[in-house]
Amino acid sequence: LRHLLTLDGLPRETLTAILDTAAPFTEVAEREIKKLPVLRGKSVFNLFFENSTRTRTTFEIAAKRLSADVVNLNVSTSSTAKGESLLDTVDNLCAMQADMFVVRHAASGAPFLIAQHLIANGRNDIHVVNAGDGRHAHPTQGLLDMYTIRHFKGDFSQLVVALVGDVLHSRVARSQIAALATLGVPEIRVIGPKTLLPTGLERPGLRVFHDMAEGLRDVDVVMMLRLQNERMNGALLPTPQEFYKNWGLTAEKLSAAKSDAIVMHPGPMNRGVEIDSAIADGAQAVILNQVTFGIAVRMAVMSMLAA
Ligand code: CP
Repeated sequence: LRHLLTLDGLPRETLTAILDTAAPFTEVAEREIKKLPVLRGKSVFNLFFENSTRTRTTFEIAAKRLSADVVNLNVSTSSTAKGESLLDTVDNLCAMQADMFVVRHAASGAPFLIAQHLIANGRNDIHVVNAGDGRHAHPTQGLLDMYTIRHFKGDFSQLVVALVGDVLHSRVARSQIAALATLGVPEIRVIGPKTLLPTGLERPGLRVFHDMAEGLRDVDVVMMLRLQNERMNGALLPTPQEFYKNWGLTAEKLSAAKSDAIVMHPGPMNRGVEIDSAIADGAQAVILNQVTFGIAVRMAVMSMLAA
């Protein structure tokens, strides 16, 4: 693995190897072991051209627990505001001896552009991790979600997993669907209004529902997604109120799922829109576990790239 840009096309062995590598790192994520020397002497640059709480912070924690030096580029005060291009920015950071770029960008493909640029310049020693690009992919989120499912459900081979909400604008959903299919989940359900589901989802084992009671019947995992207003260009259909009434996860709607179903959410959550607070904070929610596992999974990704 030189770069991690997408989960599409990655073989099951690679996904499983990342999850297996993450397992012992959970002890570091949970502070039972303080630090490991895996990335000592390496510099990890966080380039977040879009807002983030979980991804940026857990990448920073993960890199530091692996003993890397971490630089968080403050995009709003950087010279990109003076017109410097993305690739010129990257070249300058390479001149500061960067070893790894963790990139979030509103433009789908931005991390690919950086990786291609590095390859074209013979910089095969520098790694790029996609931390979310436009509506395209969020591979480490997909991986930490798979880690969470495997942790709570044991294996993937008998599961019914439902993704609910704004799949159309969700890079997280694309990475999740790719990973769930590769890991052998036999039934993936996508539930939401027609206006928020993309066309071209068809693949063996994937079923589309517009009704929560039908879609959630006997599922093992419920994955809620927020309305991604920032990618809708003002056309919010349905409204948040309409969405909550029909697709917001409440105790009543969740009762259609298996009694031991887990409730997941990649964050940020909009309580009272896609999820009721009683569910978000309830016994079936594993939403904060996802965040902690994110540290271990990002440690695994970075250590495998640098190996
Ligand atoms: N899940 C996720 O990407 O959250 P952040 O936007 O806070 O990083």
